[in-house]
Amino acid sequence: MTFDSGLEAVVAAETVLSEVDGDAGRLILRGHRLQDIAGVRSLEWLIGELWRGLVPRDVGEAVLKRDLGAARAAAFGTITPFLPEASRLAPVEAVRLLVAAAPDCADDLPLRLTATVAVGLAAVLRYRCGEAPIPPDPTLGHAADFLRMLRGRTAASTETAALETYLLTATEHGLNASTFTTRVVASTQAGLASAVTAALCALKGPLHGGAPGPVIDMLDAIGTPANAEAWLDAAVLRGERLMGFGHRVYRVTDPRSDVVKRAVESLGRNTGRLHFAEHIERAALAVLVRRKPARSLQTNLEFYTALLLEALEVPRDAFTGVFAVARVAGWIAHAYEQLAVDRLIRPQSRYVGPLPTAA
Ligand code: SDX
Repeated sequence: MTFDSGLEAVVAAETVLSEVDGDAGRLILRGHRLQDIAGVRSLEWLIGELWRGLVPRDVGEAVLKRDLGAARAAAFGTITPFLPEASRLAPVEAVRLLVAAAPDCADDLPLRLTATVAVGLAAVLRYRCGEAPIPPDPTLGHAADFLRMLRGRTAASTETAALETYLLTATEHGLNASTFTTRVVASTQAGLASAVTAALCALKGPLHGGAPGPVIDMLDAIGTPANAEAWLDAAVLRGERLMGFGHRVYRVTDPRSDVVKRAVESLGRNTGRLHFAEHIERAALAVLVRRKPARSLQTNLEFYTALLLEALEVPRDAFTGVFAVARVAGWIAHAYEQLAVDRLIRPQSRYVGPLPTAA
């Protein structure tokens, strides 16, 4: 037995859902290369691809769009009583509370949980500002309705397309920390709502899904291109992690970063902010090469995600919640895949504490 605290050398599951190829900088989702489906296929299509053969329901794209719309409408009524309490929490904690309120024995949990994350996040963000939550429009796609519920107006098609590209890109990514958490909880047969609640707890951390909001904080702290090099170098010398950079698996590039950057460009707005971010990215990569030569640290999913969600008027403390709007479907697929394995996940630990004195 080998000790590997980050489990990076451990294959803990076999999955048909995705391949995260760190050496090639390639992401395959249920047999499809990310770059072949991002910006082309709908979020509902990918959810259907991921759930096919695992989640026991009809997962055709049109059926999922219809049923997810109905699930959002049902979720709106379910979450409303919790809004006063939930809206006092950070957005991802509010979503955690709303998801945790779902009983593990509830009907059609995959749709209910997927709907609850989107409907709950939008409702909490409006409620905390004293604005009335917007009821879902079941006739819309998930991405379009989320933007509409969040901002109170129908999104432009370019905005919906850009968000849908991000959500599809963020849906599934192998055994990342929150997905592994899902599988551990699912492996005890605790139930799907419990597994998704646990996953939300793991996603929240800044080393994982909590990174995009702090990317904007970093851009704001740097302020001007002239400050970039010195600010970033000092941060790394202080032992800080630059948010939006580095990845446990990707060594050459995170293929999702370019996909999301193109989605930002497709909005065709605030090009000055994008150019500033590009300058910061170049400076950060140069600092990381200089200060961390032993490690290939590239731009990850979160850097341009922060720019995109900012451009779509999502509050920065809700970026992780939007990540969960996408990733919940991946967690659900993995939970079902783990249940099909029907094996409790229980690794060993090596005891290094004191031994009892001789009796
Ligand atoms: C996501 O796993 C997934 O797939 C996750 C994800 C998904 O889709 O689910 O892709 C989503 O979580 C993306 C990552 C978002 N997090 C951030 O952007 C936060 C900043 N990134 C780092 O915290 C870090 O890169 C991690 C956590 C992402 C990965 O870290 P590792 O693999 O544990 O690397 P490490 O801690 O072993 O670091 C190796 C060296 C260390 O330096 P030394 O101690 O050897 O001198 O690289 C340094 C680290 O300090 N380092 C960084 C850095 N990332 C690693 N230094 C500065 N800035 C960084 N971002």
